[in-house]
Amino acid sequence: MNRAFTARTNPAPSLAPVTAVMNTPQSVDRATLDAVDVSAWFGTRKVLDRVSLTMNAGEVTALIGPSGCGKSTFLRILNRMHELVPGAALAGEVRLNGNDIYRQGERITETRRRIGMVFQKPNPFPAMSIAENVTAGLKLTGTSVARGDRDALVEECLTKAGLWKEVKDRLRQPGGALSGGQQQRLCIARSLAVRPDVLLMDEPCSALDPTSTRRIEETIGELRSEVTIVIVTHNMQQAARVSQRCAFFLAEDGAPGHVVEQGGTDDMFHRPEDQRTSDYVNGRFG
Ligand SMILES: Nc1ncnc2c1ncn2[C@@H]1O[C@H](COP(=O)(O)OP(=O)(O)OP(=O)(O)O)[C@@H](O)[C@H]1O
Ligand SMILES: [Mg+2]
Repeated sequence: MNRAFTARTNPAPSLAPVTAVMNTPQSVDRATLDAVDVSAWFGTRKVLDRVSLTMNAGEVTALIGPSGCGKSTFLRILNRMHELVPGAALAGEVRLNGNDIYRQGERITETRRRIGMVFQKPNPFPAMSIAENVTAGLKLTGTSVARGDRDALVEECLTKAGLWKEVKDRLRQPGGALSGGQQQRLCIARSLAVRPDVLLMDEPCSALDPTSTRRIEETIGELRSEVTIVIVTHNMQQAARVSQRCAFFLAEDGAPGHVVEQGGTDDMFHRPEDQRTSDYVNGRFG
């Protein structure tokens, strides 16, 4: 089925807020995300062709490939952001634990709560305090947290994002006053506050120095036991360091992007089956 999104559609306001119970121990809600025959268009131009990929719970999946092959488009399809682009269309299915997120009746705000996104450029609210930044997503996604539980949630998410020790004495200072690497970890904390099952990361370290990059890679390693992570990266060492599975995208001679090869990261880097994968991971093109 070809799903065309002709006009920009804003998510409907949430009528029934999701109540997250913050005082009870978190059940680890591990999620598998399955893309099945996903194709995508901008207007009449097809940019992705029948991509099928399973992103397993407990693993980090890295999406690699040259610029323009459709990695970001694919990522945006995984949490229903593609449809915000006027003229965008898609075909195929995206299943979260077996349920198609595009099925009629699925609530878009709930899908985006369950499948969060961290962007290339850190985008905290600069004038909001560090603590307010962490909880900023709650209202948007209709997640209610009792006032008294907010401080605990802020500490928990900043700790998970590897930022707590650096900011615990200045939670009321503006988010914009942090370094780039700290801002990116603040954005990760903000994503975690709504209890996502999946975290999508589009080149989260490309604007960061090597030390901040390492810190975020450590954070990714710590998070993967509870959140399924999909990361786009142009840094092959990073893909090798942080991911357990890898998919290599390629758009050849103006054709839509497709997955040339996917598999365990170690196999993809040391025993690729396709010559094009071997060339790419060894820096011979792209
Ligand atoms: N909003 C848009 N409107 C029209 N075409 C778009 C739009 N966004 C992306 N495209 C096109 O879709 C194709 C895939 O783009 P995409 O951004 O997904 O690639 P990418 O693999 O993420 O590249 P990069 O590594 O440079 O970030 C490109 O040809 C791009 O020009
Ligand atoms: Mg991109």
